[in-house]
Amino acid sequence: EMSPEERQFQERINDEIKIEPKNWMPDAYRKTLIRQISQHAHSEIVGMLPEGNWLTRAPTLKRKLQLMAKIQDEAGHGLYLYSAMETLGADRDEEIDKLHDGRAKYSSIFNYPTLNWADMGTIGWLVDGAAIVNQVPLQRTSYGPYARAMVRVCKEESFHQRQGYQILLTMMQEGTDDQKAMVQDSINRFWWPSLMMFGPSDENSPNSAQSMAWKIKRHSNDELRQRFLDQTVPQLELLGCTAPDPDLKYNQETGHYEFGEIDWQEFFDVVKGNGPCNRERVEARRSAIDNGAWVREAAVAYAAKRQRKAA
Ligand code: ACO
Repeated sequence: EMSPEERQFQERINDEIKIEPKNWMPDAYRKTLIRQISQHAHSEIVGMLPEGNWLTRAPTLKRKLQLMAKIQDEAGHGLYLYSAMETLGADRDEEIDKLHDGRAKYSSIFNYPTLNWADMGTIGWLVDGAAIVNQVPLQRTSYGPYARAMVRVCKEESFHQRQGYQILLTMMQEGTDDQKAMVQDSINRFWWPSLMMFGPSDENSPNSAQSMAWKIKRHSNDELRQRFLDQTVPQLELLGCTAPDPDLKYNQETGHYEFGEIDWQEFFDVVKGNGPCNRERVEARRSAIDNGAWVREAAVAYAAKRQRKAA
């Protein structure tokens, strides 16, 4: 039985009116949003690490500037998202503590290593490409601050996707055989993990039904995964590369690409913290906080000194 408040809340959602921070909302709606937005924010922040690994080794000054701008954008996305999360009453420091002691989730994709320069292209193309497919519908998610944050995030992600694809096109069209092989190697490693970004298949996605009813999610995990695949395969062909999936084929009747079975064991291992780089990523975040402690302490001391002077 729904309470009158709950009924009103659901009617608002059905009418496509955004829920705002001061509106009444069920506890479970608030909790689900804090869970999803905090995981999303952590993903943006941890996602800076695999790319940061190549900043000092970018092949030209122009590539270095593009990569640096893109990584800074990701930091900005993380900060918007933490702010959106705070409008729900969540505490930023507490949520970040959960990331640092391994209690919080973030996207599985960032637990894979970046082994060659082509990975900077592949991450922009596939990883940010998948992020866009997931985030475009989130511009219409039912919670106002989250929806609005996604508008700018999506614009920036489109630039990221293009700069990544352009790195790969240059390597494929103007590169040496070794550079072309690097691109294929990179695609081979990131192809399946990118498909895993959309989460478990619909029948194994415990949060989907309720999140769809609340219009937090507007499409299921499998729907978005299919949309991503359909738009990505023609781009793969234009590059002149292949996917590491012998079952990938176009179905004339449905108008969709079909693909092989995702290794769900690998996915759940990575989500549980046992991927190739999980420990390294969390450790890098933790040491960034520890090593920056003196800057925060100095800023607080300086502010106190100025206050004393003013008094
Ligand atoms: N990596 C890590 N964990 C995942 C992933 C993934 N790729 N996919 C699903 N999970 C987790 C979910 O967070 C959930 O965990 P929890 O219940 O302990 O919180 C569990 O697996 C079950 O999955 P679902 O029931 O399908 O969870 P949900 O409805 O939250 O859907 C999804 C997952 C699609 C990722 C959703 O949370 C979402 O759209 N999030 C916003 C987008 C986002 O986080 N993007 C980050 C990567 S893109 C980028 O940052 C560049």
